[in-house]
Amino acid sequence: MRVVPVGPNLAGRRLARSVVLKDGRVLLKAGTVLTPQYIESLSRRGFQWVHIHHELLPDLALDADISEELRIRATEQVFQAAEAVARRRPLDHVGIERTAEMLLEEVRANGDVVYGLAVVRAADDDTFTHSVNVAVLSLAIGLRSGLTDRLLRRLGVGALLHDIGKALLPKEILTKPGPLTDEEREILKTHTTLGFHALREEAPSMSPLSTNVALSHHERLDGSGYPRGIRDPEIHLFSKIVAVADVWDAMVSDRPYRPGLSEVEAARTLAAGAGRLFRPELVQRLLLRVAVFPTGTYVRLSDGRAGVVTRQTPEPTQPEVTVLWDRRNRPVKPATVRVGEEGLYIDAVMDHLPSAMDGHGRL
Ligand SMILES: [Fe+2]
Repeated sequence: MRVVPVGPNLAGRRLARSVVLKDGRVLLKAGTVLTPQYIESLSRRGFQWVHIHHELLPDLALDADISEELRIRATEQVFQAAEAVARRRPLDHVGIERTAEMLLEEVRANGDVVYGLAVVRAADDDTFTHSVNVAVLSLAIGLRSGLTDRLLRRLGVGALLHDIGKALLPKEILTKPGPLTDEEREILKTHTTLGFHALREEAPSMSPLSTNVALSHHERLDGSGYPRGIRDPEIHLFSKIVAVADVWDAMVSDRPYRPGLSEVEAARTLAAGAGRLFRPELVQRLLLRVAVFPTGTYVRLSDGRAGVVTRQTPEPTQPEVTVLWDRRNRPVKPATVRVGEEGLYIDAVMDHLPSAMDGHGRL
């Protein structure tokens, strides 16, 4: 897997990606060799997973999304906006707009890159990293929907701030390590109206197209959403786009009380809601841009051999796989195959390597 749980066995392993705090500061830089002290500090701060350098395939490039620098800047901006809203102070509207513009530039420059948004986050900084992921995915969908740059920037701002109302909710509800009670769930739902009103107060010059995303990103086509229970024609396109991006990122992310779904399961769930909850063409545009089998994932192929996803192709369900083990889990000379060729398909995603594989290299 591309990410591994934080634990004492990681001492001596090298970080493949920097670990970033919720305010955007870098705790540990990519390339750092983990020591017991670093591991202790990661667990203390609530980090449950880290990206570890891949020993089997040292050249493996993880799926690129946006540059680390921009991710840090964007996370910081969302964090500051939340702080401003919590203190009922004006938020840095111009800074957020500039960030949305930079995100748009990078998403556009990445063209057909397929994203594996496996961002490592601490248990309590969910909202900020999540908001940046949602903005990136929303812009990717928006670009494929043929929106003008002006609209895309407003979509980006709306997506970055879609959950801003959570800054006004009790922290216990947001970080509760377990499912919410009915009452808590009702309180959580108010982040939509709270966010909308806060943006109107603290960023009066912001486009209503952006502020409306905070209000309506939980509305669903069939009227089963909240806060107003409006239906498809009444829901603005931006909210429909952000809804799809939001649900995807929430499904594949780890939560304090459950690990994330695999991308395959998430894709299935989203596709099942297409038409009833989400606009099918928006679901399709998202699924074209996310890696269903992210680079670094261990998979079992339909012929029994096993290996690791080493590259994405334009077809999200047919990545390139480097075969490392035969059907009896014996190491073989690495060979690259493309899923989909000669009837080959991915039979299973493996969370853990079978013990017979340990001798080949641990992960
Ligand atoms: Fe939300």
